[in-house]
Amino acid sequence: MSPVKRGTLAELDIEKLADDGTGIGPVDGVPVHVEDAVPGDRVKAYIYDASSDRAEAKLDTLLAPSDLRVEPRCRYADDCGGCTWQHVDYEAQLAAKRRHVAEALGEPTSIDDVEVRPTLPSPKQFFYRNKMDFDFSTDRWLTRGEIDTGKEFDTDFALGLHAPGNFYKVLDLQECHLHSELSARLVNRTRDFVKEKGWRPWDIRNHEGFLRHLVLRTGEQTGDCMVNLVTCGAPEDRISAFADFLRGEFPEVTTYVHTNHTGKSQNPEGEEQVVFGPGVIYDEIGDYRFEISPSSFFQTNTLQAERLYEVARDFADLHPTDRLYDLYCGAGTISLFMSAHVDEVIGAELVEDAVANARTNVAMNGVDNCTFVSGDLKELFTDDFVDTHGQPDVLIVDPPRAGMHKDVVAQIADFAPERFVYVSCSPQTQARDLERLRNTYRIDAVQPVDMFPHTPHVENVVRLTAEGGC
Ligand SMILES: C[S@@+](CC[C@H](N)C(=O)[O-])C[C@H]1O[C@@H](n2cnc3c(N)ncnc32)[C@H](O)[C@@H]1O
Repeated sequence: MSPVKRGTLAELDIEKLADDGTGIGPVDGVPVHVEDAVPGDRVKAYIYDASSDRAEAKLDTLLAPSDLRVEPRCRYADDCGGCTWQHVDYEAQLAAKRRHVAEALGEPTSIDDVEVRPTLPSPKQFFYRNKMDFDFSTDRWLTRGEIDTGKEFDTDFALGLHAPGNFYKVLDLQECHLHSELSARLVNRTRDFVKEKGWRPWDIRNHEGFLRHLVLRTGEQTGDCMVNLVTCGAPEDRISAFADFLRGEFPEVTTYVHTNHTGKSQNPEGEEQVVFGPGVIYDEIGDYRFEISPSSFFQTNTLQAERLYEVARDFADLHPTDRLYDLYCGAGTISLFMSAHVDEVIGAELVEDAVANARTNVAMNGVDNCTFVSGDLKELFTDDFVDTHGQPDVLIVDPPRAGMHKDVVAQIADFAPERFVYVSCSPQTQARDLERLRNTYRIDAVQPVDMFPHTPHVENVVRLTAEGGC
């Protein structure tokens, strides 16, 4: 039985930040995870869940604030699911991310002799995202500040981001410090426009309504801007009315795509129609230019992506005679970034559209030493694949959050290229995969990279050398 009782108040000192964003402090030896708490805080917290080795709590009273607390820039910081750490000093965020990586990799992979490097800070701490997906909702979440004004609010319409952990309720955002000033204006004027027209948001519970998502993508280095309005149904008069509105008020918008999504899933996907402009935007990482379509994966922090790829390139220690495998290559960004430093790149990726983007990208950049193959790596990455494309000298992988399938890991262990760089957005699944390679590879270097300031997420790059290699 837990010495910490559910439904009680506890006083505690917060010692560190957890990788779920909470602040942790001990009560009778049990780590209590307190939402919105900061290391150095003395708090009174309401325990709403408890087991023998962990408890969850909400911050009730801030008895003594930590020196690491900072004033959030955004008025929604306390209520929005977008940023959880805006009230935490940036250096403390970076330190916590470094520790999370060390803790995740520590035991399973025995990185004993390798010190995790300090987290590479993002060049921008605000307005660093090149893409935001705003949701329309029939269920508006009112902030404490909004309730306190005593005003009447239209609670059956919202355009913004979800309240933390709440599937239904959406904050009606007037500002967001993650994307751009243009993005905030687009959100606010779109809200005015659709309300004036009487268009109704999609109701998640009853599966009816029209407006579903407003997805905004911008080219950090080019200034391009894509508006993708996702609705249920595609009435031509509404599509063209929205086009006229954008043309009239937003000359910055270089392309408008409409997506008709009639299914129940909340993903902003469906039948796309280019209404004006080229239907794609462009952005640049390093010396390379990339075409980005509405559904392409593209690193959301463009400036920091360049640094991430620089770390991967340095770790890969590339030679002009190398054959490089870039697995989980997306739209070929890593492949292109490395292409001038090697003889040949073979990229592999599940999503066919992304492979098509990758081929367009190499052609657009006049690069001719990259080959892309599409398919699920679990099936694709066989002995035949290696026979066809040749044994790689160096391997870079950048899998999704779930990490690599165990068959892919087993295949890597089998042919064990000497140099191996593992880029990951989840140190936990990365640790699991590296543990499976423990007898094949030794870890040489670990570099966390902050792609997402004010969130607990961390990108991590690990350099490995085949045991017996130099
Ligand atoms: C984190 S992204 C990395 C993309 C790219 N390296 C970049 O930096 O933009 C992971 C990629 O893995 C792809 N992917 C996911 N599961 C896959 C699978 N089973 N086989 C091949 N690719 C997969 C996704 O489509 C996505 O493009």
